[in-house]
Amino acid sequence: MFYIGIDIGGMSIKGGLVNEKGEILFKHTLVTEPKKPSEEIVRDIASVVERVIEGSGVKRDEIAGVGVGCPGSVHDEAGIVRYCCNINLVGTPLRDMLASITGIGAVKISNDANCAALAETMFGAGEGAKNTVMVTLGTGVGTGIVVEGKLLVGNKSAGAEGGHITINFSGPECGCKKRGHFEAYASATALMGQTRAACEKHPESLLAEIAKDDGISGKTVFIAAKRGDKVAKAVINRYIKYVGIGLVNFANIFFPEVIIIGGGISNEGDAVIKPLRRYVQKNVYGAQYNPEIKVVAATLKNDAGIIGAAALLM
Ligand code: BGC
Repeated sequence: MFYIGIDIGGMSIKGGLVNEKGEILFKHTLVTEPKKPSEEIVRDIASVVERVIEGSGVKRDEIAGVGVGCPGSVHDEAGIVRYCCNINLVGTPLRDMLASITGIGAVKISNDANCAALAETMFGAGEGAKNTVMVTLGTGVGTGIVVEGKLLVGNKSAGAEGGHITINFSGPECGCKKRGHFEAYASATALMGQTRAACEKHPESLLAEIAKDDGISGKTVFIAAKRGDKVAKAVINRYIKYVGIGLVNFANIFFPEVIIIGGGISNEGDAVIKPLRRYVQKNVYGAQYNPEIKVVAATLKNDAGIIGAAALLM
């Protein structure tokens, strides 16, 4: 059998045909229009499902079902997106709408980071581990927590929102409008803000020069640091501490065997992973007495969301 996995993001709706080994055989992507009426967004999602079926040539009776990962509070059992701060899907009965448009009865939905955690734990960086914490550092910060082989989601699957733990009550505003959340310090969006502030403070720096020529993305500060810029290195060091604080908080509660870092920032590899690993291993409670926690980059990269959504049906 085959599975269709859909990963809804603020920028794109990604879909793929996935086999039982978690391999993607065909992919299709559509630009998200997050402010559209919810019915139209659901129709866009359904069109990605159709494109995957047509493009891959799979027969409809070979499809076990469609899984969807969506940012925000998703009520998995009821199939409803309860809350989502950047895509107009609040209160949308996504599962049933999608099933009725596509005619595919088996549809399951869950939070996007929960899907990524499932994928990495089944097929990626956390394979073989029973306790994992996945942290996606992208436009927002998502977390997926696996305890004794099972996703921990809380009452009506509203929990495991690690991006919204408060690390400074008077800190910067988060995407959800509250202050000082982990996401407001550790997301790629937050890093871009930290980069912008450093450029304004140090207009003479190489970082500011690069930003002026190419604009600011989540990569800018790493490019400047690789070329030896001290201002960029200081921004990264501070950013690592912000992310590290959140990881240590998760580690002290769940004490996983492995913390998996995903999202766009994880593409920086060792420049991010090695210092984060050092930070966690040094600062976790009882560091020298307790088992060592691995901190690794996600191996399924951008595909984790699609694979994990498909895995909801496996
Ligand atoms: C949302 C999470 C989501 C994460 C990654 C956060 O802003 O609150 O639900 O998992 O972004 O998309």
